[in-house]
Amino acid sequence: MKKFLSIMLAALMLVSAFCFVGCGKDDSKLTVYTEAGFAPYEFIYNGEVVGVDIEIVKAVAAELGKELIVKDVAFDTICTAVSSGKADIGAAGITIRADRAEQVDFSIPYSSTEQYVIVKTSDTTTKSLDDLKDKKIGIQQGTTSDMLIDGLIKDGTLGSATITPYTSPAVAAASIDKLDAVVTDKLTAQLIVANSDTLKAFPLVKADGTPAAEVEEYGIAVTKGNKELLDAVNKVLEKLIADGTVDKWVEEYSAKAQEVGA
Ligand code: ARG
Repeated sequence: MKKFLSIMLAALMLVSAFCFVGCGKDDSKLTVYTEAGFAPYEFIYNGEVVGVDIEIVKAVAAELGKELIVKDVAFDTICTAVSSGKADIGAAGITIRADRAEQVDFSIPYSSTEQYVIVKTSDTTTKSLDDLKDKKIGIQQGTTSDMLIDGLIKDGTLGSATITPYTSPAVAAASIDKLDAVVTDKLTAQLIVANSDTLKAFPLVKADGTPAAEVEEYGIAVTKGNKELLDAVNKVLEKLIADGTVDKWVEEYSAKAQEVGA
């Protein structure tokens, strides 16, 4: 009996040792991390995460014959999760940047955007970056808007302006009474104000009217070195971009987001 028990115990330890190295990755599944407060790319519709990015990763999962698992997490944790392999893919309107590309591999770009500012409709003085000097600015934590405003505070451009971080651009915009402005990506900003009588959005420009930041491009993030997955993502994207499907999804999900006020 004792011998039997110790054999069982040894067997159990062996299995758990294997699980420790192998069980974390289930090859039949494709795990995607996103942050679902970013319409039309990802938002909650009828209690479900939907949007352009979700359609893209659905197509990737179908291409690979894998089951898609979508997790809604804080935006600033996505690249780290993809980098560690906890997630296979990050699909969250992620702007392709050199610093992020050190952590993850990016697909070909599938959308482009620019920085927009959201203010109250009653605000008739905020026109350019100059008018954000010394103001309270809301952003989604860890985004390119966060990095841009942070840089402009650090280099003195925005005087004593402050940043208030939020979990999503929509949550920031909902707190406009405590802020002077919210900065976020174009389409998301336009959708936030689309159903609002009290908010408006426009491009974030310098005093001379030129854009305050460079045009940004979205890419799908893949764990570094996972060439097979990156190739599959690019193959799927090439087709979806060329045949106009991505554009169609942008329209379709912008309409859906407006319907539910996402
Ligand atoms: N494009 C911006 C960035 O990469 C914002 C993305 C926010 N995405 C989201 N799903 N909340 O930083």
